[in-house]
Order: sequence, then structure tokens, then C-alpha cells
Amino acid sequence: MARCTAPSAPRFEHHDGSVLGIGAAAPRLSWTIADAEPGFAQTAYEVEVTRAETTRVFPVEASDQVLVPWPAEPLVSREEAAVRVRVRDAVDWSPWSATSTVEAGLLSPEDWAASFISPRTLADLETAAPVIRGRFDLPAAAVGRLRLTAHGVYEARLNGHRVGTEVLAPGWTSYSHRLRYQTHDVTDLLREGSNELEVVLGNGWFRGRLGFLGERGLYGDRLALLAQLEVTDAHGELHVVGTDDSWTAAESRVLADDLYDGQRTDLRRPMWGSESAADVVDVVPVNLGVLVAPDGPPVRVTQVVPAVQVLRSPSGATILDFGQVLVGWVRLRVRGLAAGAEVMVRHAEVLEDGELGVRPLRTARATDTYLVAGGGEEILEPGLTFHGFRYAEVSGAGEVPVEDAEAVVIGSDLQRTGWFSCSDPMLARFHDNVVWGLRGNTVDVPTDCPQRDERLGWTGDIQVFSPTAAFLFNVGGFLTSWLADLSADQLPDGSVPYVIPDVLHDPAPTAAAWGDAAAVVPWVLHERTGDTGILARQLPSMRAWVDRLDALAGESHLWAGGFQFGDWLDPSAPPDDPFAAKTAPDVVATAHLIRSADLVAQVASILGQDAVAGHYRVVAAAARSAFGREYVTPGGRLLSDAPTAYAMALQWDLLPTSEQRVGAQRRLADLVRASGFHIDTGFVGTPLVTDALVGGGDLDVAYRLLLQTSCPSWLYPVTMGATTVWERWDSLLPDGSINPGQMTSFNHYALGAVADWLHRVVAGLAPAAPGYRRLVVEPRPCAALTSASARHLTPYGEAAVSWERDGGVFTVDVIVPVGARATVQLPGQEEQTVGHGAHRWEVPDPCRVGGHRIPRTVRDVFDDPAIWTEVVNASAAAGVATDETAVAKRLTPFLDDPAGEVVERLFAHGPRDGYDTLTKQLQPLLAP
Ligand code: BGC
Repeated sequence: MARCTAPSAPRFEHHDGSVLGIGAAAPRLSWTIADAEPGFAQTAYEVEVTRAETTRVFPVEASDQVLVPWPAEPLVSREEAAVRVRVRDAVDWSPWSATSTVEAGLLSPEDWAASFISPRTLADLETAAPVIRGRFDLPAAAVGRLRLTAHGVYEARLNGHRVGTEVLAPGWTSYSHRLRYQTHDVTDLLREGSNELEVVLGNGWFRGRLGFLGERGLYGDRLALLAQLEVTDAHGELHVVGTDDSWTAAESRVLADDLYDGQRTDLRRPMWGSESAADVVDVVPVNLGVLVAPDGPPVRVTQVVPAVQVLRSPSGATILDFGQVLVGWVRLRVRGLAAGAEVMVRHAEVLEDGELGVRPLRTARATDTYLVAGGGEEILEPGLTFHGFRYAEVSGAGEVPVEDAEAVVIGSDLQRTGWFSCSDPMLARFHDNVVWGLRGNTVDVPTDCPQRDERLGWTGDIQVFSPTAAFLFNVGGFLTSWLADLSADQLPDGSVPYVIPDVLHDPAPTAAAWGDAAAVVPWVLHERTGDTGILARQLPSMRAWVDRLDALAGESHLWAGGFQFGDWLDPSAPPDDPFAAKTAPDVVATAHLIRSADLVAQVASILGQDAVAGHYRVVAAAARSAFGREYVTPGGRLLSDAPTAYAMALQWDLLPTSEQRVGAQRRLADLVRASGFHIDTGFVGTPLVTDALVGGGDLDVAYRLLLQTSCPSWLYPVTMGATTVWERWDSLLPDGSINPGQMTSFNHYALGAVADWLHRVVAGLAPAAPGYRRLVVEPRPCAALTSASARHLTPYGEAAVSWERDGGVFTVDVIVPVGARATVQLPGQEEQTVGHGAHRWEVPDPCRVGGHRIPRTVRDVFDDPAIWTEVVNASAAAGVATDETAVAKRLTPFLDDPAGEVVERLFAHGPRDGYDTLTKQLQPLLAP
């Protein structure tokens, strides 16, 4: 009797399912086991590999099931293998898994017979997008593969049929070092005899606008195509045809295309160009050594969202509302227009005074125009651009019925792996907003924003967001690819460009929290996916970064001075100066040096490089003691008396004595009280502050911060109707106007990094060993929530924690996947360890509900939500202070005073009008 179900069909590297055109000759394998007897523990596995009709079985004595080594001879180019696995425990074998297949791509530049070609006269920057066409005779195909890539972005069709489902292929990489090619199965599109391949080329990232400096053509000024069609006939013989100088080019109907500015299309022209106006092509020299197979999924259409309403703006414009800030384009059905009539679609994420709010787009025109063919029904839709929007203004199309408009959502087609829910609808909406923010900012590269003249791979943003991203979606391959670009673009001295792929070309890019992506992102991938190979691959890059910082710090071991973004977008920074954070950039910088040196030491020791590990431990120790000397008082105050400074110091172990740690914890919580429980951190501190509070025992203070709804807070945007996470805490000001600053995106994921805390701490599902082989289940409920849950498809399978508070009972349901174990720590209970399967606990509800407790100190008044609300409301009504922030400001100097003094303290410096009323109202709550 099998003791477990058959394993899942094996996965290869970070791909889902079977893979065509993989770049790894020895792809690592992973599988999950859906169910097993309680005592089951895998002790061995067998991998069966079938290639060219030979089947071999490879037995391995090991308990591993995630990214295990390829057991067979490496694959050669184009070779296919069918793979299945079975596992055994001490007792018996499982059934065999289903089979998945992996087929190698072209593993060496010599495998390419095709050359890059470019139109000779057509297709300069100001002319229409070219179509490149090739015709060739082929035998009947038993197997047909089309491999292609471009300088620019392409869409291909073979014998009149679209090839594949990708959009904006080949995506964006550091083109001069790494250019992805795609492999398609085109067996069914081919025919015996004459075949025709047509490929339209757009400017894309290669030649279109990139960056806020208005530059175009950053990678080159000629679009080019590389296509290779490989047909294996019935006798197994391979026939290869590819792009060469016999191909031709023509103008398509896309008159202009740009990722920022949009697309202009003349529907009176044939999409695939007119033969009569054919141009010759030149073979252009490109180093084929840069070609790489994809590590992750391509960009595709991932959803279609119907318009929810058609609005008429005050100026009379027709505005479509899709109900959701998203990324992609508008698909519009029009009828009966005159030939040549122009329809224009402009995009924006928000409305201001009822009109499109386009100022946040800065110089991106984000406008699609169409010259229609006229007459009957036509579908208007671009394909060589994308926009970030919720609203679209349509002109020239007459009345647009709501059912004639939909938004086509695009993005890297990442598999969803994480979910969170809870009893607070606003927090649940916030989490949805985080998910949408991720979807919109993973268009092949992890970006800052998808709408304005940026959309760049800002390192700082993914540095803080990567743990959240890795929970919500399978970003293993996506970030593996991006990290390869990071290493490729890293400067010889170890500096890490602010954006990857690097298009800013700063000569000395060293910014704390940004460049640290080099150390943090590989670590996060390892922690969340169990991939140790990524550590080995990235270690040289990680080391180079820390070496650079160590050199900058020099003998003082303090990284001080020089350009820094610092705690970017601290809410107290003025709109026009996002650098002006409360935490000194020097403090941020040395803290990051220490953190990254710690990570490198840990990575080296995981990889068995003990001498290297020792070296970085010394680097970290020297910087730690310098930090302590320079920035920390013996009692635990920090040079920057601001939450971000304390959060870094507490989370990264920068405080040597327990007195300092206790002092810093207390101070951090008091600073949060002082802000009236409003967020007071920028990009750096925001992902850390809730963990730091909980670490110091201030769970309730962390929840007060999390659940705050007035500005600035995580939930304030939700109260303003946000459907994504904003770049600024107040991208939309409380009066509904758009923040006047330059950094006013409505779709930025960085500040959503707190979602990782929702998963790990609120729901209580955290990784404790790489790939979640061990989980920590430690939900931390609060009185304001009656339930929460998180679910994650770990590399071992589904893990879930779900809790509910009801009738004094705290009920926790946990699912642990086969192959993993969980350490469970429930409030007031002994820690225990459980194996796979479903588990339930019912323990006393740890949250205090109801019942009035007399506060002892002013601090206790802050900490009791009901009393605090009374104090704030009564103070506002009496005109003593305008709002929560103002009340907090007045009372903060008196936190240790008796609670009964609150009214006295509120009136400390001002006129005493209303004193008696307020005393009467509040005193019963405040004094026995
Ligand atoms: C981007 C950020 C980025 C920052 C650098 C901005 O323009 O949108 O998210 O990290 O510049 O500080």
C-alpha cells in the first residue's frame, strides 16, 4: 500500500509545468506530494528520464524534493526528455508521477544558422513599425520549432496565424549582455511546401523612450530580427531556415509606437505591410553569445476587465472607467465611422475635478490614436505599447456604449501562489491593492511604476518588496533573470546601478537600500524558494557590492556622505523634496552596509566558503561597532530620533547592549504614539517598522499603525478609493486633488511591502527554513480583527494558516505540506512541532474585548483605542486640537504622567475655553 499519493509531475528550475527551449542543460527538478500518511517521510526518490526512446531510472537516497540536481547526462541543444518521479519512505514506494517534458533550447551560439536582419531604408525612428517577411519551402514537419528574438519588440505570424501568446517579446533585459529568445512549438502552423513568416517590430525598450530624461534609442537606432525555423521531418532529419538577406521588409499599419507615448495606427493600411513597397534588409552584426533562454514566464494578456461606467466630464469629454488601476491597454469596438476618422484614447490613473489627471504621467503622452478604416464594426487595440490607467478618455468615436470597451491587462504571466484575507474589509482591500500593484509592476522587469516616463527597474523598490512578491506569485524565474541583469550591469568596482537594466548610466551609483538589492534579493529568493544555486551564482555580485561599500567606509567603517536616496518619501518630506527624510542618510547607509555584509557572510557559510564568511563577519562587526559608537547613546537613543532609524537598528541587530535595545524599543513605540499612530517612515523604514514594534512587545501599537485610516497611513488610500498602492502616502490629498510633487504615481508597490508582515505575523505563516521546508506558525491576533488567514503554495505544496476569534476562543487551522514541518507557537501555549497534514487548535482568545480599564498613564490613554478615540473626538469638538495628530503632539511630552492629567496637559499652553466641558466628559474615563 502506497504511503503517499503520486508526486506531482516534476517542475524544472523555476518554471511551471513542461518547458520548451530551456536554457539549463541540467535543469533542477522539484515536485510536491499532495497527501501522505501521518508518519510518511521521503527517504529516497527515483527519477525516470526518457530521451530518444531510451529510458533510465536514477535512484537517489535523499529526502530532498525541491530543486534537486538533474540526475542524468546534461541535455544537448534541442534535446527533449520526458521525466517522472516516484518517492519512497522507509516502508514503500509511491506511484509514479505524471510525466513532464523538458526540451533544451539552443545552448551554444553555433546552433544559430540565422542572422540578425534589419530593414535597410524603412524603419528609422520616425517611420512606421516595419514588418519583416520571409518565405521558404519546407518538408512536412513532424516537429516544428520557431526561435526568435529582436532588437525592439515583436509579434510574429506564421502562415497567417499568430505565433504564441506573448506580448512585448522578447521583453527587457540588459540587452548588450543578455537578450532572451523565445521558442515556440509551430508544428501545427507549418505546411509542406511554401511557408511565410511575418514579424512586426516595435520600438519597445530597445529603441523607444526610456527614462525621465526623454532619451530614445538607448540601445541602438536599428530594429532587427533574428528568427530560426527548425523542422524535423518524418525521418528525423532537421531542416533549418532563418533570417538572412533574402528576407524583405515593409511598413505595417502602425505609424508610430512607443511604450511611454502610445501607438498610432492607420487601420486603412494592411497590418502586415504592402508587398509593393518592399524594402531589402541588411544583415547586422550582433554577438549571438548574448542570447539566453527565458528563466521565467513571458508577458501575456492575463485578464480582460470590462468598463464599469462611461462618464461625461465637466468639459464634455467621454471617459471610460474600468473600476481598477491596471496595466495594459484599451480595446474598443467602434461602428460606422468615416474612413480616416481619428479616434483618440488617452489614459490616466485618476480623475481630478472630473477630468483625466494626467500630470502624474509627466512627459509620457500615453495616447493611442487610430485612423479608422470606416464603415462597419472595427476593433481598436494597440499591441506595441502599454499604459497604467483606470480611466481612458475617448474622442472621435461618438457615443461609446459601456459594453464596447474593455481593458486588456498585461504583465509577466506569473503563477499566483499567495493569498490573504481578514475580517477587516479595508485591510482586505489594501491587500488586493498590493496584488494589483505587483501585477502592474512586473511587466518583464520589476519596476517602480507603470504609467509615467519611468517604468524602470529601480533596485530599491524590489529590494523592499521582494519578500511580499515571493509570497504572492512565483517570482523565482522572473527575479533570477533580473538578478542576472544586475550582475551584468554592475560596475567593475562593485557599484550597483540605481535601475536594472541600467539606462541611467550613473558613473558611481552607490545608494543604500537601492544597491543592496544585490545582496537582499538573492537572499529572499533563497529563503522563499529554497534555491541555493542562486546564492552561488550571485555571491560574486553580492561580495563586490559589499566590498565597494567597505571601501567607501574606509577606516572609519562608517559609510557617510555622498549621494543617497535615504529613507525616500518619508511622509514629512515636502512634496518637492522627497529626499528630506527625518532619518539621516548616513545612518541609513551604514545600517545597510552592516546588513548586506551579514547576508554575504551567511551566504558564504551556506555555500561552505568559511574563509569568505569570516571576512564579511569582520566587515560587519567593524561597521557595527562604528555605528554603535557614532550613532547610538548608551540608553538606546539614536542619532536620528525617527522611526526608520529605530526600526533598522532593532531589526538588523545594531544595538549591542540590552539596555540599548529596550530603550530603542520603547522609543520607537513612543514615536508611533507621538505621530498619532500615523505612518512616519519612507521606503526604508516602512517594511521594518511593524516587525520592530512586535519584536519589542508592542503588537497593539503595530496594529494601531496598520489600521489607521487617516493620512498618512496604509489604509488612507483605501478610504480615497485606491485600487492599487500609491507611491506616496498622499498621492491623492484628502481634498481629492493630486499631490503637487513629481513623485505621484498611483501604482507603486514599495509601500505595500507591509503585506509580508500581514502574511507572516497577522496570519502567522512564515518561512523558517529555505523554501518553507520548516514553517513558523505564530499568528498574532488583535482585538480589531476577528479572523485572518494566509495561504501559500510553497515549493513543497500548499501551506495555510487561518484563525478566528469567537466567544472567547481562538481557533487556528493549519495546513502543512508533505515534506515540511511547522513550529507552532500559539498565544499562551507551549511551542510545538507538527508534521504534514491539517491541524486545528482551540485556545483561549488572547485579546481583551470590552470591559473598561482605567488607564494609569498618558501612554495608557494612547494605547486604549476606545478611550483614545474619545479623547481625540472630545478635544476636536472642544476646539482644543484639530485632529488625532494634533492631540498626539500635545500629549506626547507627558507620556509618563498620570492619565488623570490628560485634560490639564491638553490645555498646557493655550486658552482654557472648554476646559470644564472636556474635564466633565473625559475625567470618568481617565481617573478612578
Ligand atoms: C522612482 C522610485 C525610485 C526612486 C529613486 C523614483 O522616481 O519612482 O520608486 O526608487 O525614483 O529614489
